[in-house]
Amino acid sequence: MAFNMNDIIYKKRQGNELTSEEIEYFVKGYTDSSIPDYQASALLMAIFFRGLSRKEIFTLTNAMRYSGDTVDLSPISGIKVDKHSSGGVGDKTTLIVAPIAASCGIPIAKMSGRGLGFTGGTVDKMESIPGFRTSLEAEEFLNQVNRIGMAVIGQTAHITPADKKLYALRDVTSTVDNFGLIASSIMSKKLAAGSDAIVLDVKCGQGAFMENLDDATILANLMVDIGTDAKRKTVAVITDMNQPLGNAVGNSLEVIEAIETLKGNGPDDITELAKRLAGVMIFVGGKASSKEEGYAMAADALSSGRALEKLKEFIEAQGGNPEVVNDYSLFPQASLMETVVSEKDGFVKDIKARNIGIASQKTGAGRETKEDPLDLSAGIYLSKKIGSAVKKGEVLCTLYGNDKAKLENGKAEAASAFEISDEPVEPPVLIKKIIGE
Ligand code: URA
Repeated sequence: MAFNMNDIIYKKRQGNELTSEEIEYFVKGYTDSSIPDYQASALLMAIFFRGLSRKEIFTLTNAMRYSGDTVDLSPISGIKVDKHSSGGVGDKTTLIVAPIAASCGIPIAKMSGRGLGFTGGTVDKMESIPGFRTSLEAEEFLNQVNRIGMAVIGQTAHITPADKKLYALRDVTSTVDNFGLIASSIMSKKLAAGSDAIVLDVKCGQGAFMENLDDATILANLMVDIGTDAKRKTVAVITDMNQPLGNAVGNSLEVIEAIETLKGNGPDDITELAKRLAGVMIFVGGKASSKEEGYAMAADALSSGRALEKLKEFIEAQGGNPEVVNDYSLFPQASLMETVVSEKDGFVKDIKARNIGIASQKTGAGRETKEDPLDLSAGIYLSKKIGSAVKKGEVLCTLYGNDKAKLENGKAEAASAFEISDEPVEPPVLIKKIIGE
């Protein structure tokens, strides 16, 4: 049957369910460029407002999953475990949990993404390590996992090319934060990437695509259902993203914070989250009999320094300079800095992660259009977190970068993220819910 893209857009615009054939036609046509960006954008916006049914979401996931190559990880022995975050601000957990889990015997053969909107991406972060290669040939990738237990690369053009194109288009058309689009995007990649088990970190809060627990629960259930349906052990951990995770936001700043966390000097929130997520990965990977035992193994991998050693091995294996672990001056350096100070005494009530994410993007750490180059040294360091006491004139955060106008812009945005109250404030609960298994 011949399809017409205009009819498909109209059908969704009117709130009707698309057939599997229509969705497959759209995904195939957008991937091979026979459907132009403007029609794809219009359909995305119609989907954004009208939503997708479960059937549409499952079809979209599979259409994107099979839009290119799928990875066969069978040459790697053991239960391969993948982990994915739904996107947040300051989320450098992959760089911490992957070495922890790998050092506990869980093979990690992972593909990561770039920054999207005001959220960062692991691939951009890893590229701040001098020499680091985020693209490896398939054989090299598999051999590396067999040799050192882990490899993390960027999503190649051959894997879920449909998601790759749509992801970039959604980023610049304000159509990211939609249940069906996020669930299908994440799960198509995870299923195509071939791991046996999947741990999802679903971010929830003002700095995440899902702002409240009810929405995060819907997204988490949807992804667990898609994973289970595809016979993958899938667990979702819903975690707080009302304030940025940790203190550092921006590419090299976050890698440095990940290293510090592996050295045992990381902020409490990121350290705790890393142990919890890695604990679940160790459990679903069959190396622990419960999530609690997995947690204890993760804690031991951290305190013994084994996880830090694994990170060094990983950096070296992918062509990066492992000395960055001891010498942070090897990272790209910012020549300028600006600070935001408190206008009064009190307690930090709010650090809106979304504003910090946008501010970081403005310093040069994120992209505003899909072609924008990144300043890998740029970003923000938070000196205070929610609940911290603060004095008038004390530094709340420092912005780094190389362009004065960009830093000024970022500074105004970052200042608007902070709310100071006269009363003491309780820090938010980090782990909100675990779904699946
Ligand atoms: N992360 C993804 O991989 N896709 C989305 O749509 C959002 C976050």
